Amino acid sequence: MKNITVIGAGTMGNGIAHTFAQFGYQVSLVDVSQESLDRGVATITKNLDRMLAKEKISEANKLDTLNNISTFTDLKEGAKNADLVVEAASENEKIKLDIFKTLDEVCPSEAILSSNTSSIPITKIAAVTNRPAQVIGMHFMNPVPIMKLVEIIRGYNTSDETTNKIIEMSKHLKKVPTEVNDYPGFVANRILMPMINEAIETLYTGVAGVEEIDTVMKLGMAHPMGPLQLADFIGLDVCLSILEVMYDGFKNPKYAPCPLLVNMVRAGKMGVKSGEGFYDYSESRKAEKVSQQFN
Ligand SMILES: NC(=O)c1ccc[n+]([C@@H]2O[C@H](COP(=O)([O-])OP(=O)(O)OC[C@H]3O[C@@H](n4cnc5c(N)ncnc54)[C@H](O)[C@@H]3O)[C@@H](O)[C@H]2O)c1
Repeated sequence: MKNITVIGAGTMGNGIAHTFAQFGYQVSLVDVSQESLDRGVATITKNLDRMLAKEKISEANKLDTLNNISTFTDLKEGAKNADLVVEAASENEKIKLDIFKTLDEVCPSEAILSSNTSSIPITKIAAVTNRPAQVIGMHFMNPVPIMKLVEIIRGYNTSDETTNKIIEMSKHLKKVPTEVNDYPGFVANRILMPMINEAIETLYTGVAGVEEIDTVMKLGMAHPMGPLQLADFIGLDVCLSILEVMYDGFKNPKYAPCPLLVNMVRAGKMGVKSGEGFYDYSESRKAEKVSQQFN
């Protein structure tokens, strides 16, 4: 597999494109938005510059990586030569199903189609194609160039051959592939989201404040980040939608999203991306923090 098509140039897509390109693959990065493509390539360049400054890569590595990436706004054009597709478009079932229908029509018949979805069943995505044995989940973690795990999700019909090829490919990217089956939340979010939800419930019921909850988990459990801050980084809307998928999928009240999470999302508090979640990330607050440091 040499030609990789990555769909979506957002947070995950640009990291996935960066990683494949750095390991010598030809990457076609596709997004409906030219602005997202430009932003994605700018992020990859900035991240490569950071690696260069830390002497983790050479100037030649940086240029080779950038030269390995081409950008497209037309899905058919960007996917027609793919050996492997990694879809990382917005977490919306209709968008993903439409993309996979098109991919099945335009990609070479032997191409493997994968999705980076956090919660949409791989079996459902595979069912809109005529090649369900060649559809699989490749769940990378953010930030992709740094995080080692790739959760490999086998759909109901995914073949051993497809799974083995994707495991080998992930190892070639110096990642640690871990095979799991296709049930709501897979493994990563099945365990992480109830913890985040419980942290929110702990706040909601007044057991402790935001910083206290995060401090307990950071210092007591050696987590690099507290669960409430992590939720802000993931996006509170994303956490809510994953919990809803698990609640709906298992019909078990233990996955019911905390009413505080529901309310915060309704109020537009999405975490880092909206400037406020459990913590304040607004420009004025950042400026205030900087001025405090100088006082
Ligand atoms: N953010 C995370 O921490 C994280 C972690 C693991 C997995 N994921 C999953 O990765 C996927 C992408 O998430 P993200 O955080 O990068 O989202 P994002 O919002 O940052 O980026 C999504 C991109 O998809 C593009 N897009 C939308 N419709 C498209 C279409 N039809 N064709 C091509 N591009 C299209 C958008 O323009 C946008 O640039 C989701 O499935 C998400 O669940 C996210």
